[in-house]
Amino acid sequence: MNWIVEPARRLGGDVVVPGDKSISHRVVLLAAIADGESAVTGLADGEDVASSVAAMRALGVEVGHDGTHLRILGRGFDGLRPAGEPIDCGNSGTTMRLLSGLLAGQRFTTTLTGDASLRRRPMRRVADPLLAMGASVHTSRAGTAPLEIVGAGRLRAVTFRPEVASAQVKSCVLLAGLYADGPTTVAESVVTRDHTERLLAAMGADVRTVTAGAGVSVTIDPDRRLGVIGGRLPGDMSSAAYWLVAATLLEGSRLRLPGVGMNPTRTAIVDLMIDWGADIVIERTDDWCGEPVANLTIHGVGGALTGGVIDADMVPGLIDELPLIAALGALTSDGVEIRGATELRAKESDRIATTTAALRALGVSVDEYPDGLAVAGGQTMGSGSVDAAGDHRIALALAAVGLAARGPVTIENAQSMAVSYPGFFTALESVVER
Ligand code: S3P
Repeated sequence: MNWIVEPARRLGGDVVVPGDKSISHRVVLLAAIADGESAVTGLADGEDVASSVAAMRALGVEVGHDGTHLRILGRGFDGLRPAGEPIDCGNSGTTMRLLSGLLAGQRFTTTLTGDASLRRRPMRRVADPLLAMGASVHTSRAGTAPLEIVGAGRLRAVTFRPEVASAQVKSCVLLAGLYADGPTTVAESVVTRDHTERLLAAMGADVRTVTAGAGVSVTIDPDRRLGVIGGRLPGDMSSAAYWLVAATLLEGSRLRLPGVGMNPTRTAIVDLMIDWGADIVIERTDDWCGEPVANLTIHGVGGALTGGVIDADMVPGLIDELPLIAALGALTSDGVEIRGATELRAKESDRIATTTAALRALGVSVDEYPDGLAVAGGQTMGSGSVDAAGDHRIALALAAVGLAARGPVTIENAQSMAVSYPGFFTALESVVER
């Protein structure tokens, strides 16, 4: 499916962004092993979270899932049942990596597979710590899925220092830690998103975080009970980011985004945009499900953004926004340089390569490096056709920045948007002025 993004004059009105995808996955997995019935609203409505729901159903969990409403009858720590056949995690790395941690603590064997993109992504990063904890995890020779996870029942507690900054890896080990014979610690040298820790705490687990230099050390006690979770999930900052950028670029815009999650491990994009000259008003509300929330109002400033450099320390806090920030770079005054971001090559696509190719197809000059890219400022973005390469973040980033291009931008293979934001174009039509 191709989408044609026509240039826009401004954006005006309200957009309710989808529920946070990271939190939604965690709610589905943790509510399944809780004691009692959890019910939440505002679940992310994309295909990724649907993969987690399908996986838990395959493991014997009763899940009522209707759009953004979720009801799960938790089966307790030892209530999951063998799936009988391989579980398809679709495009979702979060499903595969977090579920691996849960499955390592079961008393049965499970095979996890996924689509062509997911079967190319690195899985030794979760297999290795789970092996150290006593589970058997088999990957392909290349260290990719399908993964066969032979659960050990009781796991060995470990202290694990991940080589890559990854919330998925941290979460995998923390979930396995629920089934360990003592406290399990993940010591990360750079802080990554902490939704797992917050949700575990909200459900009554004993999880402690201490700061250690630029990173944190997170310890989970094995627990035989998790309480239920209920309420509304915050909107996804990574989905809000497309609107922050599009509305900022279009002078005269006034766009309000109610109920966006403001977890400090996710708000680097807001800080960066304000730092570069964006006009974003933040109105804090009550917390939802243990997560801070705000209503955001963006006033367009046109081409008045400065741009700047993003280095390795900033990468984990902006990981899903980097293609968007790179695309924005062309329309800033100083340009954008992103370095220390090799991890982008291991996402749903090689995002350094796919972002570079998409921007060049629109006449934007880009320097590609092994660990990032640089986009000079003061450029215009022309009309053209870009290939989203089956990657939702590339499709959405180009759709957002494409609104400020000189002519129509055709996004090929735009159906991947449904992975995280199926309603993007419907929302756009309700707020766009041309
Ligand atoms: C996620 C963590 C990030 C992010 C992904 C979702 C999560 O991946 O890119 O979209 O929910 O934990 P890594 O932690 O592997 O960088």
